[in-house]
Amino acid sequence: MQKNIMTLERHFLEQQRKFPLARGEFTKLLTEIGFAAKVISREVNRAGLGNILGDAGVVNIQGEEVKKLDLMAQKMLVSTMDHLGILCGMASEEEDTFIEIPDSFPTGSYALNMDPLDGSSNIDVNVSIGTIFSIHRKISDCPRGDAADCLQAGSKQVAAGYVLYGSSTMLIYTSGHGVYGFTLDPCLGEFLLSHEAIRIPGRGRYYSINEGYADRWFPWTRNYINHAKKPPEAGGRGMSLRYVGSLVADFHRNLFTGGIFIYPGDTRADKGKLRLLFEAAPLAFVAEQAGGRATDGRVNIMDIQPENLHQRTPLIIGSADDVDDALRFIREETNETSHVR
Ligand code: AHG
Ligand code: MN
Ligand code: MN
Repeated sequence: MQKNIMTLERHFLEQQRKFPLARGEFTKLLTEIGFAAKVISREVNRAGLGNILGDAGVVNIQGEEVKKLDLMAQKMLVSTMDHLGILCGMASEEEDTFIEIPDSFPTGSYALNMDPLDGSSNIDVNVSIGTIFSIHRKISDCPRGDAADCLQAGSKQVAAGYVLYGSSTMLIYTSGHGVYGFTLDPCLGEFLLSHEAIRIPGRGRYYSINEGYADRWFPWTRNYINHAKKPPEAGGRGMSLRYVGSLVADFHRNLFTGGIFIYPGDTRADKGKLRLLFEAAPLAFVAEQAGGRATDGRVNIMDIQPENLHQRTPLIIGSADDVDDALRFIREETNETSHVR
């Protein structure tokens, strides 16, 4: 029998006592994200049974085909969060503009950014997918919030994390006091604390990158990846390749085993594919809180001031020493003296 069962709610209440600045509404906000995650997890788990696989027949602002589960996750998160009186608005990968709180509901002092379902290409084939979230304090003067509340640098996040719908469903979050992991107990229907003070190893075994795009890489990417996989006896790091194609799943594995995930800018897209606000910044907060690093190759992801909601960024994230190695290859190529922390 498991001792000291710590539910998500109890954990947040205890954190609230330890860090008195964390107010009750913050606890409520995170608990409700946990609730939405449970509903999404249920839908994902039975996805093959209902008519909820496949394309929704629309294309999002990124020009990507939207899946039915993308929309379900988006609707579930918005409808769980919009009436609480805690948010002043939201922004989502699946919505072109700032999501206002309906006039019939009160607004609050936080803004939520989200990638409702990450790893869309894996939805229909029963491979791990996830939800990514990021919370900022309201900064605009607008009484009911506006896009400025969502358009903040990663360093201003008050909490961030993700839910991984994998062989089990896990919720990983940080509010700046370390990284905690909860596993969904399917019988209880509760997230229970399973991982405390998560630390990413300083170096890792895995590199994660879409090697199918090698022809478009800039030289540093090719040089670094060659170094990463070259055997130690030949002066390399002897790392193995793991690439799921769901950022959350690749990040999660590397968080525990150590390693580096790279979605670089390349000759086709100099900013790569991933979105700063919905993917890179939240995971950068988790990585840094776990002792890892995240950079776009020039500056830390957390320091980038976003200019638009759907801005993309190259992402190099994971074990600190592995990320530093990649940065050395970038500097060699650009011949820059470091302006990276
Ligand atoms: P999303 O499903 O939210 O659009 O994100 C997909 C992302 C990310 O999860 C993954 O790392 C990446 O796309 C994979 O892209 P490639 O197929 O280009 O490697
Ligand atoms: Mn995504
Ligand atoms: Mn998505």
